Amino acid sequence: PLKVAVIGGGSSYTPELIEGFIKNYEQFPLQELYLVDIEAGREKLQIVGELARRMIENAGVPIRLHLTLDRREAISGASFVLTQIRVGGLDARAVDERIPLQYGCIGQETTGAGGFAKAIRTIPVILDICKEMEELAPEAFLINFTNPAGIITEAVLKHSSIRTIGLCNLPIHTKMQIAQLAETDPANVDMEMVGINHLNWTRNIRINGVDRTEDIVRMFDNASGLSVKNIPDYKWGDGFLASLGMIPCSYLRYYYLKDKMLKEQQEALKVKGTRADAVKKVEAELFELYKDPELKVKPAQLEQRGGAYYSEAAVDLITSIYNNARNIQVVNVRNNGVIPCLGEDVSVEVRCIISSEGATPMMLSGGPLPAEIRGLIQVVKAYEELTVEAGVNGDYGSALQALAIHPLVGGSSLAKAVLDQILAENKPYLPQF
Ligand code: NAD
Ligand code: G6P
Ligand code: MN
Repeated sequence: PLKVAVIGGGSSYTPELIEGFIKNYEQFPLQELYLVDIEAGREKLQIVGELARRMIENAGVPIRLHLTLDRREAISGASFVLTQIRVGGLDARAVDERIPLQYGCIGQETTGAGGFAKAIRTIPVILDICKEMEELAPEAFLINFTNPAGIITEAVLKHSSIRTIGLCNLPIHTKMQIAQLAETDPANVDMEMVGINHLNWTRNIRINGVDRTEDIVRMFDNASGLSVKNIPDYKWGDGFLASLGMIPCSYLRYYYLKDKMLKEQQEALKVKGTRADAVKKVEAELFELYKDPELKVKPAQLEQRGGAYYSEAAVDLITSIYNNARNIQVVNVRNNGVIPCLGEDVSVEVRCIISSEGATPMMLSGGPLPAEIRGLIQVVKAYEELTVEAGVNGDYGSALQALAIHPLVGGSSLAKAVLDQILAENKPYLPQF
């Protein structure tokens, strides 16, 4: 039977996925869907699981739904394993976002020192899941959504035999934004997104085959409301995008607008706390809605979360693998030389051909990376490689070097202070250190 396991099934994003499986049922006739969580997520799993059951019944599709805390049972014989976990929960995220701010650094859950902390907590858990997959579902694809998605994907690529693809909602989000600006359907938009997860740029934008890059970049600069929900929509600065000639992803504001973003975070911390605190509120509201027995579809309020449209990306990807569709999607895969200035074995987020073999990265249509973006990608990728090393082996030296070169931390003494506090406050989650 066609089986999918979702690890972290109690996530408030799960209704997105269910909606996607329902919509795609004809092309992807899912029979067994396992939502699995841990003891701490038991109640969330129950609530979101019951909503999922109502959604499936309401849609009249014969998907059999299982809710379980038994990860091995969920993984066994699955064709696809999806991971959307948050090791340490939102409390750990709040710590990730606060520690860097105490040292005058950007406090963000995937970018900079916060992302480093999330990575080293998550790598041991993901590699455990991979070991179980090697035993119980060795042919399955691991579709990883867990952040920092680029680093987690790279850890799996380097330390497991499981086939994996990392996924982010920014590519689909960007395509929808461009379509909106060009007043066309997303299906008519073709663009090249290049870089690594949460550090990428969009170039060579074509609408119905016509190159509209300059024009769309200009519109992007003048429009507002285009950032993902979790990142303030600040302007990039006069003439900046025009001279860059590409659209940076929302997370690049932490680099290009560092001072302004830092000030915003420091002020927000005083009045409303971190993004984790805001997400706790949104999540509580969502779960209240999910409890309503009359609710049988995904509620619109889920769009307040930064990961909106994630289901479309995930289910499109799985459906395309299953049907050997050979279409193009932007996902995280092994570089294999596609970005020549990076190592062969690192993860990159680029256009890929999606087939029954998985995702194969395509040659860059816009040529080699220009100097404007090349150096930044190289240094952040070096940070990521060191973070994988630290996360897998608990190597203090690699961890220190990782933070010492990160553009949003930097310097040996600052890196050491931030690192020591991260290690102290995350002790229960760091068996490798
Ligand atoms: P969440 O806090 O709701 O966590 C999801 C579930 O994971 C919870 O029910 C929790 O109990 C469970 N969990 C925690 N530790 C676990 C473990 N060790 N094993 C199994 N399950 C465990 O988080 P969320 O907001 O739904 O986000 C989940 C993950 O997805 C995060 O890592 C987040 O960063 C990521 N995410 C990624 C994208 C993207 O673009 N790639 C978008 C949105 C969210
Ligand atoms: C973006 C990113 C995700 C991230 C999410 C955070 O869309 O692509 O990787 O997890 O936002 O959203 P949140 O609502 O949790 O702050
Ligand atoms: Mn993402």
